[in-house]
Amino acid sequence: MSEQKGTPRRKIRNVHATVTHDSARKHVSGTAFYVDDLPEPSNLLHCYIGTSESAHARITRMDLSAVKDHPGVIEVLTADDIPGNNDISPVHLHDEPVLAGKLVQFAGQALFAVLAETRAIARQAVLLAEIEYEELPAILDIQTALAEKSYVLDPHIMQRGDAHSAIANAPARLQGEVFTGGQEHFYLEGQVSMALPQEDGDMLILTSSQHPSEVQQLVAANLGKPENAVTVEVRRMGGAFGGKETQASQWAIIAALMAQASGRPVKLRLDRDDDMRSTGKRHDFLIRYDVGYDNEGHILGIEFTHALRCGISADLSGPIADRAMFHSDNAYFLPNITISSYRCKTNTVSNTAFRGFGGPQGMVGIERVIDAVAHQLGLDPLAVRQANLYDKTGERAITPYRMKIRDNVLHELIAELVESSDYEKRCRQVAAFNRESPVIKKGIALTPAKFGISFTTAFLNQAGALVHVYKDGSVHLNHGGTEMGQGLMTKIAQVVSEEFQIDLDRVRITATNTGKVPNASATAASSGTDMNGMAARAATRKIKKRLVKFASKKFGVDKSDIKFIDNHVQAGKHELSFAELVKHAWLGRISLSATGFYRTPKIHYDPKTSSGRPFLYFAYGAAVSEVEIDCLTGESRIARTDILYDAGKSLNPAIDIGQIEGGFVQGAGWLTSEEIWWDSKGKLGTHAPSTYKIPTCGDIPETFNVQLWAKGRNREKTIHRSKAIGEPPLMLAISVHSAINQAIASKLDGNSLPALNTPATPEAILNCLTKK
Ligand code: MTE
Ligand code: MOS
Repeated sequence: MSEQKGTPRRKIRNVHATVTHDSARKHVSGTAFYVDDLPEPSNLLHCYIGTSESAHARITRMDLSAVKDHPGVIEVLTADDIPGNNDISPVHLHDEPVLAGKLVQFAGQALFAVLAETRAIARQAVLLAEIEYEELPAILDIQTALAEKSYVLDPHIMQRGDAHSAIANAPARLQGEVFTGGQEHFYLEGQVSMALPQEDGDMLILTSSQHPSEVQQLVAANLGKPENAVTVEVRRMGGAFGGKETQASQWAIIAALMAQASGRPVKLRLDRDDDMRSTGKRHDFLIRYDVGYDNEGHILGIEFTHALRCGISADLSGPIADRAMFHSDNAYFLPNITISSYRCKTNTVSNTAFRGFGGPQGMVGIERVIDAVAHQLGLDPLAVRQANLYDKTGERAITPYRMKIRDNVLHELIAELVESSDYEKRCRQVAAFNRESPVIKKGIALTPAKFGISFTTAFLNQAGALVHVYKDGSVHLNHGGTEMGQGLMTKIAQVVSEEFQIDLDRVRITATNTGKVPNASATAASSGTDMNGMAARAATRKIKKRLVKFASKKFGVDKSDIKFIDNHVQAGKHELSFAELVKHAWLGRISLSATGFYRTPKIHYDPKTSSGRPFLYFAYGAAVSEVEIDCLTGESRIARTDILYDAGKSLNPAIDIGQIEGGFVQGAGWLTSEEIWWDSKGKLGTHAPSTYKIPTCGDIPETFNVQLWAKGRNREKTIHRSKAIGEPPLMLAISVHSAINQAIASKLDGNSLPALNTPATPEAILNCLTKK
């Protein structure tokens, strides 16, 4: 029972603390359960897909009789067998089927599915299909799509001021273009789903998805059932990076259709090659610019044209193209600007979310412009960057979409990074080295990133949580966010345990489940912790409030005299453990379960006028990278990178530094080695690690200094004043690309900057070196 207050207790600090990721040991020891590791039901069947060989064709004959007759095959499914609406469009455009009917639109598109006793049988049977195609003209690149006005969505234009006359009247003018390549997500765990039929035709789906609620909705629609007949659960993903935001649903739907048809549990796991062929990637962009500037490098007027490869359907291309436009200023005030965005329809797989969601592509555009202007004027690119930075307040702190920037920390942050990285001295050393070295050339660059935090589609900025406290004082935590390795679950558990003032291991992290928290948004836009942390805290506070009321009555003390501290509760001079109070409350018939809800405040946006406040705040960071290139082979290497990132008051510095390191290296891979290549028939050539080069441990910067900004604090009331971290560090890798271009320029000593595209592969670097 209640004891007298004894030794003074110390407040538990679980937030702002370096806490190990809850699954870290399980990840490295191979004991974390992914969908394919879960115990299999004894009557489980396996499913596989047959895909199109052609990029654009009408199917004149599809004979699946040999597939059906293959021993061990149970069921074969085509578009005609789908009871619901054969649609995977996440934005309700009905522009992409689960299984194609008579028309195929890209090589790799799913045409039929086979259900068999084993996965091997299903895969063998797929090969027996006889399909004849009547080829149609295919659009395979952005240029052709632009010329033919082939779009998945209407073009969109955003403007402020009069860019055209500002450019015409400026002292100097430059025009150019930069192409940014696509990127394969290469999550370690591929796409996988298991569908388990339940009573009354209900369906339970275990999947690897960032968006369980959407999988639920689309599975239900394709089965021809209401959403309450489908439950979707995700414990964790083995990486997602945006590739499982919308594109997990197709495989879940196929597994569910097969489970419904057979009445047995069904698993579908794509092979790596098919995963790469049949799921979307980062959008490649063609970016054209026309810029007018003065002698100090101030940009006076600029016109950007973005043309992006969307593939066959809209998927998330609308908001991705928008985010590219929202980030085509990056950190710079551009007084007169017009951005035109063309969302190109091509006969390639539908491209999708990828860490940064269009932001990185938009930023590469403006960072290239700054480098080109600096080069033209013979100025240090950093000086030109600083000259164009947004002010902290006033007219020069308003974005092209009329959002007032209130939290610009880049002036200070960059100044600190210049100091700590010894930028100026190293610039001189690089120049001196280059004068002496004809073959190996060095380059160094500092680039900032400013990234808007919130979904630009306002209604998505909502989150829910569910917290139970059991009789023994242990806590069950659930929320709508999903774990993909980023540490979301750990961070939310930190928040809840801190609020109850109990040890972290008293809070049980549980799988995301549409039956516990409904209608959740995707875990995306780096807002997982911001939103779910607030929702979970709200639920926790509800329970705490009930406990306070109960204790105040029980001990006859004022509510304000009740304190939760160090696994205990103090009520005036009484003290008891948290578990004891909970037990009393249960006996006193107090509800120990609550939901919490959060909606991001202050945001609004009108796409018609391209104006509003689409973001609650901005995340900021900057990086200095020093690289070396070999002018004979075109190879490059990152010698050193220094990063300073504003994580606000970081909830978990260890996890945040991990996010920065991982994001940066993933960005460097996108910009240097990861090249996506289709052949002249639209077949993906780079569909395996043998032909697609992601960074390995040998590719990380040889010296890698990552720091969280000590002064960081979110001026908005986010969860414990922290800031989002999931995506923005990827964009800091633009410093690598910029440094490589400087290195090439030092070899060429011409007066225009080389037109280095991304990725800066050895081939691309050699092309720049040899182009006259
Ligand atoms: N980190 C790991 N380890 N694995 C991932 O798949 N995805 C990134 C980022 N960091 C990812 C990751 C992407 S694209 C996003 S949007 C955020 O994590 C999502 O999680 P958050 O909102 O909780 O930061
Ligand atoms: Mo991240 S691209 O928003 O899933």
